[in-house]
Amino acid sequence: MLICIMASAACWGADLTGNWAAADTRSDGTTLKTYFDLKQEGASITGHIRVSQFYYAIRESTGGPDGFTLTAGMMDGRTDRVVKYEGKLVGDELHVGTRRRPDAPLTELVAHRVPAGEGAYPKRVPPAALHKVPYNGLAKTPPMGWNSWNKFASRVDDAVVRGVADAVASNGMKEAGYLYINIDDTWEGERDGKGNIQTNKKFPDMKALSDYVHGKGLKIGIYSSPGPNTCAGYEGSFGHEEQDARTYAAWGIDYLKYDWCSARNLYTDEEMQAVYQRMGDALRAAGRPIVYSLCQYGRADVWKWGPEVSGNLWRTTGDIRDSWDSMTKIGFNQNDLAPWAAPGHWNDPDMLEVGNGGMSEIEYQTHMSLWSILAAPLLAGNDLRSVSSSILAILTNREVIAIDQDAGGKQGKRVWKSGDQEIWIRDLAGGDKAVGVFNRGASAAGVTVEWTDLQVKMPARGRDLWAHKDVSFTGPQYTADVAAHGVVMWRIAQR
Ligand code: GLA
Repeated sequence: MLICIMASAACWGADLTGNWAAADTRSDGTTLKTYFDLKQEGASITGHIRVSQFYYAIRESTGGPDGFTLTAGMMDGRTDRVVKYEGKLVGDELHVGTRRRPDAPLTELVAHRVPAGEGAYPKRVPPAALHKVPYNGLAKTPPMGWNSWNKFASRVDDAVVRGVADAVASNGMKEAGYLYINIDDTWEGERDGKGNIQTNKKFPDMKALSDYVHGKGLKIGIYSSPGPNTCAGYEGSFGHEEQDARTYAAWGIDYLKYDWCSARNLYTDEEMQAVYQRMGDALRAAGRPIVYSLCQYGRADVWKWGPEVSGNLWRTTGDIRDSWDSMTKIGFNQNDLAPWAAPGHWNDPDMLEVGNGGMSEIEYQTHMSLWSILAAPLLAGNDLRSVSSSILAILTNREVIAIDQDAGGKQGKRVWKSGDQEIWIRDLAGGDKAVGVFNRGASAAGVTVEWTDLQVKMPARGRDLWAHKDVSFTGPQYTADVAAHGVVMWRIAQR
């Protein structure tokens, strides 16, 4: 006999089958929706859970309307991303929650029934056949500027961008070459009735902001994704590529970072070129010069096809963090990609962390030196409104920047390694060489450079780029004293 306890779902024979949505309003006015598309058959619950960019298939369930658990997962690149929910039916509401960690309190959502199909993952648009998108003529040297993500993440807003533009225009960075003020993820609002992307409350008027930044003699960048959602779960450009490119052009945008994110739910890595080609075409058709920055974490050998979609730079790695470990794992791992860098087309080992506080100033000098030898984009990622003079001196070291911006556009390479010590050399236009002697070890080291082995002609005039001093090398060896985690960097004349 069925024992019916009032308020128990069993009394109405209700089940969980249906499409349920819970909305969470962010402080910027946008909503983050979670959809539970469930099918209950006896003791089994199947279906999908969508949290903006995440689309999970239910793999296991226990219980029913009176109390259930769901385990769902999706492949996120090579990572299996798993979520667990627990909940119950309460009247006509689905009360459902997750825990950040197994011992953390439940974060509860209340979901209501919505029509079938609402929130369903969009159907993919088959990618077009490949063709070459002509080079846009931009970024003849690696782009320089600032990007909001490393320091501000979702806290970036109009005031931050104006404040940073003011700082760059007045603290010497603009004169040192930092031009692009780039807004990363979380500026996006919803689309209007015609499908036009709008900003959220944090950015009341993008055209006015762009005029402000241009008024300072700087350029402005923005961010989107070829998928339906960005990595932070905001509106992406999927299905609106041409329209968004026109909007960016109308706002006066000069730079677009286009981040794969949720496109992974619709397209394979093999299809990336075709997907990035679409925005390359759209930017071209929009008729404004816009630097095109591909961000897909270095998958699918992007350096081989980035120029074909009119990409000016492409990320070669996952996200950098403000730590010695993260910075060096990325930076010292770029050697094999050197052949793919050239004027207009750059490998991008991610933005600078200089000044964000997780590394020492010596380590930040190493970061800046390595990125310059790598011909990497120099996008500062710190709060430039309150930068210290010593950090500013690192970011604006003109002699190091001249290496990064060398017109030859050749990326440097590792030429020697022994234990924790490495020497990297970049061949410069006109024949000079930039030499970085790096000490990745935790104590200071004397590193002896054998010039003949490294094919550096002696005797030679040199310049120590951090000490700002001339050095004269007489050969055949030179021993550099390199601080722990430090670098000695020279420019050496070869004529
Ligand atoms: C990805 C990118 C980051 C940043 C965030 C924003 O993780 O790799 O650089 O743009 O998305 O959500």
